Amino acid sequence: MEDLKVVIGSDHGGFHYKEKVIEYLKSRNIPFVDVGTHTREACDYPDIAKAVCERVISGKSNRGILICGTGIGMSIAANKVHGIRAALCGDTYSARVSRAHNNANILCLGERVIGEHLALDIVDIWLKTGFEGGRHKRRVDLIE
Ligand code: RB5
Repeated sequence: MEDLKVVIGSDHGGFHYKEKVIEYLKSRNIPFVDVGTHTREACDYPDIAKAVCERVISGKSNRGILICGTGIGMSIAANKVHGIRAALCGDTYSARVSRAHNNANILCLGERVIGEHLALDIVDIWLKTGFEGGRHKRRVDLIE
């Protein structure tokens, strides 16, 4: 696994899964920063997406994880930021290929859409998979 520096954030809709992903990160000694939310009270997902994206763009973190009810709001917001490639994944194949082909630097998950164990498998595969480069680098460069 590359040298991972993870930043994680959720709104209230993704709060429970954020706690679960943090347990996973701790169990594997993967360094992370939690930008919130820190309670179950309703909050606005674009603010959290912005905080996670800023850390990734600055290089303080090299991977971001964003969780909301569907993952959709987070992915729409994150992909507004230049240099962010946020992948909303609901299956492990997409999680792996979002890294191998798209060099996704943010993973988005929907707590109200997928089960907890699937979410954790997706996180595990997404963090372990490297970018293949080659023809995929040309395509990712074209996005930029
Ligand atoms: C919050 O109710 C919900 O809209 C949010 O978590 C997310 O699903 C938005 O895309």
